[in-house]
Amino acid sequence: MKKMSLCLNHRFVVATILLYSSTMLTYVTCTETSLQPNIVLIMADDLGIGDIGCYGNNTMRTPNIDNLAKDGVMLTHHIAAAPLCTPSRAAFMTGRYPIRSGMDNGHRVRVLLFTASSGGLPKNETTFAALLQKQGYATGIVGKWHLGVNCESRGDHCHHPLNHGFDFFYGIPFTNFHDCKPGERSAILTDFQDKLCLVNQTLLVGLLMLLVLKWTGLTSTDWRTIVWLMVFCSLFFGAWYCVFGFVRLWNCLVMRNHDIVQQPSNGETLPTRMIEEALAFIERNQRKPFLLLMSFLHVHTPFFTTKAFIGKSKHGTYGDNVEEMDWHVGQIVKAIDNVGLTNKTLIHFTSDHGGSVDSVGSNGEHDGGWNGIYRGKKGFAGWEGGIRVPGIFRWPGLLPSNKKIDEPTSLMDIYSTVVGLAGASLPQDRVIDGRDLMPLLKGDVQHSEHEFLFHYCGAALNAVRWHPKGSDTVWKAHFFTPKLEAGACYQSEICGCHGNYVINHDPPLLFDLSKDPSEMNPVSPHTEPLFHEIQKQIQKGVEEHRKTLTSVPLQLSWNNVLWKPWLQPCCGTFPFCWCDKDSNVSIVMQEANQ
Ligand SMILES: *[C@@H]1O[C@H](CO)[C@@H](O)[C@H](O)[C@H]1NC(C)=O
Ligand SMILES: *[C@@H]1O[C@H](CO)[C@@H](O)[C@H](O)[C@H]1NC(C)=O
Ligand SMILES: *[C@@H]1O[C@H](CO)[C@@H](O)[C@H](O)[C@H]1NC(C)=O
Repeated sequence: MKKMSLCLNHRFVVATILLYSSTMLTYVTCTETSLQPNIVLIMADDLGIGDIGCYGNNTMRTPNIDNLAKDGVMLTHHIAAAPLCTPSRAAFMTGRYPIRSGMDNGHRVRVLLFTASSGGLPKNETTFAALLQKQGYATGIVGKWHLGVNCESRGDHCHHPLNHGFDFFYGIPFTNFHDCKPGERSAILTDFQDKLCLVNQTLLVGLLMLLVLKWTGLTSTDWRTIVWLMVFCSLFFGAWYCVFGFVRLWNCLVMRNHDIVQQPSNGETLPTRMIEEALAFIERNQRKPFLLLMSFLHVHTPFFTTKAFIGKSKHGTYGDNVEEMDWHVGQIVKAIDNVGLTNKTLIHFTSDHGGSVDSVGSNGEHDGGWNGIYRGKKGFAGWEGGIRVPGIFRWPGLLPSNKKIDEPTSLMDIYSTVVGLAGASLPQDRVIDGRDLMPLLKGDVQHSEHEFLFHYCGAALNAVRWHPKGSDTVWKAHFFTPKLEAGACYQSEICGCHGNYVINHDPPLLFDLSKDPSEMNPVSPHTEPLFHEIQKQIQKGVEEHRKTLTSVPLQLSWNNVLWKPWLQPCCGTFPFCWCDKDSNVSIVMQEANQ
């Protein structure tokens, strides 16, 4: 009897184990699609696709980025939504064309200009970080934001990363720019500054002449008028020139979460501190799923390259900075591998848009990126050079290694891809332009889902990319092109989107990108029998796209970009904003750097 019951018990145990393990098995297979991998998104600033070894550069050394490509999938037709920081990043964060959130518009200014601008990523836009946060992810961003800070008062932080789904922020709410490096020329509204200076000087000269005339008795103007004029002049000086005098102090600042920890920023140590913060974030969060957006200040000018990399590259100060960034990429990958998360982490590497090809620094040295075979550059509408960016994905065990994919994909696709991986669903109350890339990356499908991609210059539709379903051909039609080689935009950093800045094309200038990626030889009805049919299909695509647009508040209107003193983030008492609670760079990194 005793033996019998034992036997029964034994059977029971075996059955339970069997049942349990089979449940576990189904559990494992069923949840494979929502594994909740860690997600590390690395974005360089202003890096050209032609600057990287695996994209064909044989003199720039980028071994760490090349290794990501070797161990993963490399996209060769990866497109940013805009050729400029603010709109491209807005699209990246929201998975939507920037025109949908009001983050791109037709004015001359197409990026936020001050930390005290009131424009920025609207509160009702939902970033992928917000969706991942709801799925239990730890969400961190280190580095550049450039999507606004305040709306109505200093410290409301309505556009701040912590109000857009991140629970950790270390970096600059604005951007790295010339004013942040003492001794460099100013980068903000320089022609406006020059005009202002001229007006002020004219006023001053006028005033002096008046004084002389009065002194010599040649005019009967009374002293009261002169005093009023002086007051007027000094107010003019005070209100406007001061603003520009304070550009560095007010705009180059470092935040940790909601606190300003350094103002003005110390650019020399900031990139090192950033990488330390990123590594610490990975270390802290290794036991739960995390999202890290590493938004480099590299390789935007001015360069703050550390000693170990100065003079080491074959491409001057620009190349030194690129190679340092590559080393930082290596640090992040190593940190992930070291905590044993290699196969549980999706890494994506890209740039926010193309390089500023012919940019020249104050020392006369060439300091912009290289866009390889692609025509055009940063700030120049829809030519490939401004928008074709590197795109590398690594996820060992899940994604193939050493694979190249030449299908049109967008930086907006990251949104849908990571939201899907986190097991969240896409917002249903708005148009999402990005598509889940996992089937394409894994090799389950051969073609990308994008039939059309639209390229804006400000609010104006500039060009359209058409990838007919099931075909390998990619057409691109330009409705206008910037006057790059001559005319109003010659040698300028950013070109306008209308009037004298552009050449209109009717019929649109058409290229076969699959045969002519450099956009050098437009096709014509003589060379392409289907010319008119292609134009017609593209026109149809545009009409369908236009139906999905609604009018939204313009975040980059003059009113929203100009400096508003009451919005000025300030450590201390405005206008004397100054503090440094963050100057301790750990010795470890400094040494590693040597
Ligand atoms: C490599 O990058 C540098 C710096 O941007 C550039 O000057 C050079 O032309 C590039 N080389 C190739 C082969 O693309
Ligand atoms: C990670 O994936 C690779 C590729 O499938 C595999 O060779 C390796 O053993 C995996 N590593 C771990 C720790 O599972
Ligand atoms: C956000 O609000 C603006 C204005 O209130 C509106 O036009 C826009 O459609 C809203 N966006 C979303 C995604 O709901």
